[in-house]
Amino acid sequence: MPILKDTYPLYLNNKAVQPNTDLKVTDKFTGEVAFRTALATPEIIDEAIAGSVRAAEPMARLASYERQDVLMHCVERFKQRYDELAYALCVEAGKPIKDAEGEVTRLIDTFRIAAEEAVRIHGEVMPLDISERAKGYESIWKRYPIGPCSFISPFNFPLNLAAHKIAPAIAVGCPFVMKPASKTPLGAIIMGEVLAECDVLPEGAFSILPASRDGADLFTVDERLKLLSFTGSPGVGWDLKARCGKKKVVLELGGNAAVVVDHDADLDDALERIIFGAFYQSGQSCIGVQRIIIHESVYDRFKDMLVAKTKTLVAGDPKDRDTFIGPMISEGEAKRLKGWIDEAVDGGAALLCGGQLDGAMLAATLLENVHPDAKAINEEAFGPLAILQKFSDFDEALAEVNRSKFGLQAGIFTRDLFKMFDAWDRLEVGGVVINDVPSYRVDNMPYGGVKDSGLGREGIKFAMEDMTEIRNLVIRRG
Ligand code: SIN
Repeated sequence: MPILKDTYPLYLNNKAVQPNTDLKVTDKFTGEVAFRTALATPEIIDEAIAGSVRAAEPMARLASYERQDVLMHCVERFKQRYDELAYALCVEAGKPIKDAEGEVTRLIDTFRIAAEEAVRIHGEVMPLDISERAKGYESIWKRYPIGPCSFISPFNFPLNLAAHKIAPAIAVGCPFVMKPASKTPLGAIIMGEVLAECDVLPEGAFSILPASRDGADLFTVDERLKLLSFTGSPGVGWDLKARCGKKKVVLELGGNAAVVVDHDADLDDALERIIFGAFYQSGQSCIGVQRIIIHESVYDRFKDMLVAKTKTLVAGDPKDRDTFIGPMISEGEAKRLKGWIDEAVDGGAALLCGGQLDGAMLAATLLENVHPDAKAINEEAFGPLAILQKFSDFDEALAEVNRSKFGLQAGIFTRDLFKMFDAWDRLEVGGVVINDVPSYRVDNMPYGGVKDSGLGREGIKFAMEDMTEIRNLVIRRG
């Protein structure tokens, strides 16, 4: 089993620095301190931002192949350090080891996609002679890096959601400062260790700075930073947007994702996918299945199948290969969700299975007949809870999916082509997934939300667009 070190540095202007060991990071299953990392002070963050400003021009001058080489170096090093990265996630996030390995595989994909995209940043030649006054004019536009970027990444995918910011920034040539989640900083720190091996990156190209929320205001308010990309909870995200001044903002926030199971769905297949979508990594995904909207003709049968399967999920130590449900990120979060479940039951919901709480371990829980105003159905659960609902008419199911302040992704199990297109047109979400769960994501696809779920899209190519600005050249040819 890979061994973690006792202490880890932060990365300031490309270099490992150990000013203190103030951040204690626990093993989320045992609750014991697993290691300590340095914690950045406001002075260190300021120094990192100044470094990123100095690095903006040399970063923008790097050739495409040089940026691609950096990204390919990361791909190779992450492959070599696969087991260590997976183990780090398992410890710091309490992520079951199989899910942790899945995340490392996706991390490698994300950097590989970015390496490919780094040499494909194209512009366009446009004739401007659309009327008499523009006769003889044409324009050429191309993309320039936006400049120093600020990144704040979440605890639930400490590697891959940090990678969705770091990799496109390198692909376009933007320096960045990153604040990883304080509960899970190690994934990003190891990425810093790997990037520090790349001498071609100018000093200040990157800083990776675990920081307390109180000390981290500069990531949001500092005007030297030209873009803020935040992934995390909706409340925090919209608050940051209100305080971040003139910079461009990308927000990847949460949701209460729904899946519709129509009468013609393959129920055995839907069962496997929905159990995965609802309960993998204890439901701590922004696109985890929270609402299961089932056609009345198959409701009772599918309910029985869901309950029976949920009861078989193995809960326990995430380091154990048989474990499907590990701990939530903290006891506080587990208590919060247990409170919502109890409140729903007090309001008339039926508890079909689960509901037991032991420390940070919350059992996989299914509810039905939840009051439409209950927190459990309206707010982001971000834990192992899914709610069954019944529909009789497909229009009604789509309306129910849209009855949400969120709109990240939705899943529809149907074999009817017309319903697929109808769902695509009418669902207020950033992505519709047919015959799979909303939790499905491949790292090159556009990913992001509408309504309270966020602004902008990730999925390397789309993030690269946000991290660049179009600069136009007009030519008068006489
Ligand atoms: C998220 O939780 O926002 C990301 C989910 C994923 O990348 O699979």
